[in-house]
Amino acid sequence: MRILAIESSCDETAAAVLHGERRVLSSVISSQIALHAPYGGVVPEIAARHHLAQIEPVVAEALSDADLELKDIEGIAVTRGPGLIGCLLVGLSFARALAFARNVPIVGVNHLEGHIASAWLETPDLPYPALALVVSGGHTALWRHPGPGRFQLFARTRDDAAGEAFDKAAKMLGLAYPGGPIVDRLAALGDPHAVRFGEIRIKDGPAFSFSGYKTAVRVHMQKTSMAALEHPDDTPPKAMLDLIASFRHAVVRELLRRTREAIRAERPRSLVLAGGVAANKLLREQITKVADEEGLALSIPPLRYCGDNAAMIGRAGITRLLAGENDIELLEAAASLPLGS
Ligand code: KG4
Ligand code: ZN
Repeated sequence: MRILAIESSCDETAAAVLHGERRVLSSVISSQIALHAPYGGVVPEIAARHHLAQIEPVVAEALSDADLELKDIEGIAVTRGPGLIGCLLVGLSFARALAFARNVPIVGVNHLEGHIASAWLETPDLPYPALALVVSGGHTALWRHPGPGRFQLFARTRDDAAGEAFDKAAKMLGLAYPGGPIVDRLAALGDPHAVRFGEIRIKDGPAFSFSGYKTAVRVHMQKTSMAALEHPDDTPPKAMLDLIASFRHAVVRELLRRTREAIRAERPRSLVLAGGVAANKLLREQITKVADEEGLALSIPPLRYCGDNAAMIGRAGITRLLAGENDIELLEAAASLPLGS
C-alpha cells in the first residue's frame, strides 16, 4: 500500500509518501522558523496562513520525489491534533478533500503518536513493550507503549516542556529563536558543573517540571550581573557559556532521572527517544548510556525525524490503513487531543 501523509500542526508544513510500513519514498518539510523568529515564538495566524500557501506545493513535491502521481495513492494519514487549531485545519481539510476526490481511506493521527512511531521507521524490529520519552517544544512526557496504537501515560511535565525551557532560557540570555539548538551548540563550550542546578523535587510524582530552572537562570543572571547579549550573533562571555552548559546538563539529568525510574518500574524491552529535543547532543549521548546500562534496545531518531515531519505521521497511520480503517466520516481537528489513557 502506498500512502500520502500530511502534517501541519505547528510551524512545519510537511508531506511524505510511504510504501508499506517500512519504506519512506519521500519526505518534504517546509519550515516556517524564519517567519516566526522576529516574534520569538510561533504566531498562530501567520502559521496557518503560511500552511495554506505551502500545502499544495509541499504535497506535489512529495509525490514527485516519490516518482508517483496522486492516482497512485491508496490511502492518506493526516495529523488531527494536538496542535494549533488553524494550522491543523489546513492539513486536515486538504487531506479530506483529496480522500473524497480520490475515493481512498483516510486516518487521523495523534501528533505525539507520530513522534513515537518514528522509532519504528528507523528500527522496524524494535521490541514491545516500549517506553517512550517524548520531548518537544510543546510536550514532555514518558509513555508506556505496550503495542502498536496503545499508550499509557507514566509521567508528564507539570509546567514547561523541555524544549520550551530551552527556548525561554535562550530568550533570557539574548540568543536567537528557537533557542534549543543554539543552547545545545554553545553548551559544548562551557563547563557543565560551573553553576549548580539542584534536583527538582515533585510531590505526588512521577512528573517533570522545568519552570524552576528557568527561574534559576534568571536569578543567576541577576546575582552575577550578567547582561543578556545585545545581539543574538554576539559571542557569549565565558560565564554565560558556563551557565548554558550547566543548564543543559541539568535538564538532561532530570529527563534521564525520570526515565530510569520508569524503566525500573515498568521493565520495558526497548526505549524510544522522540520529538524536537531528541536532536540534543547530550541527551542522545546520555540516553544511549542509560539503555546500555539497563540492557534495553534503543531507538534514537535521525535528525530528519526529530522535528515535525510527515513520515512519522505516515508510519503511525499506515498500520490502521492496512487494517482497513477509514475515519472519513468522523475526522475532525482537535487542538488538545489526549494520547492513550
Ligand atoms: O517536535 P518539535 O519540532 O515541535 C513541537 O512539536 O514542539 O520540537 C521543537 C523544539 C523547540 O523547542 C526546539 O528548541 C527544540 O525542539 N530543539 C532542541 C534542539 N533542537 C530542537 N532542544 C534542545 N537541543 C536541541 N539540539
Ligand atoms: Zn512535534
